[in-house]
Amino acid sequence: MISVLFVCLGNICRSPMAEAVFRHEVSKVGLAGQFKIDSCGTGGWHEGEPPHEGTRSLLNEKGISWKGQTARKITKQDFFDFEHIVAMDRQNVRDIVLFAAKQGIEPAHISLLLDYLPAQTLSRLDDKDVPDPYYTGDFESVYSLVYESATNLLNRISPTLK
Ligand code: 4NP
Repeated sequence: MISVLFVCLGNICRSPMAEAVFRHEVSKVGLAGQFKIDSCGTGGWHEGEPPHEGTRSLLNEKGISWKGQTARKITKQDFFDFEHIVAMDRQNVRDIVLFAAKQGIEPAHISLLLDYLPAQTLSRLDDKDVPDPYYTGDFESVYSLVYESATNLLNRISPTLK
């Protein structure tokens, strides 16, 4: 089983979108049974809530299901349950590492979602942070970044697609 955990701040905008898109792509190539996919936030303010309205309507528009997704905060157990921890921005990485340290864990497998963007797309960006649509309101541009990275991530980590 390949396990992937997408992490952002609130777990209502970016990481639920990455989770839904990645699960959709995994299903499309018939690998659903081989993957464990989830998302969470470094903060727990929205625990139990469905994805943000902006994320939901964008996913609906693209025909991607977000069914069953509810926000939760990262836990100590996540470091044992997930092989790949994929953060949306550099602050998330700092917060994950800090949280892990408090639990006495040194996580060795954290990446940024935009690490998986093709160099050409990356060269047009200022940094590797997925902008937070909770503040910018721009869910569409987040979707393009998430879509391109998620498909590349799948190609990178899937044993049968390599
Ligand atoms: P996300 O966006 O990290 O992409 O889910 C946010 C959602 C909620 C908050 C901040 C960012 N908040 O402060 O409640």
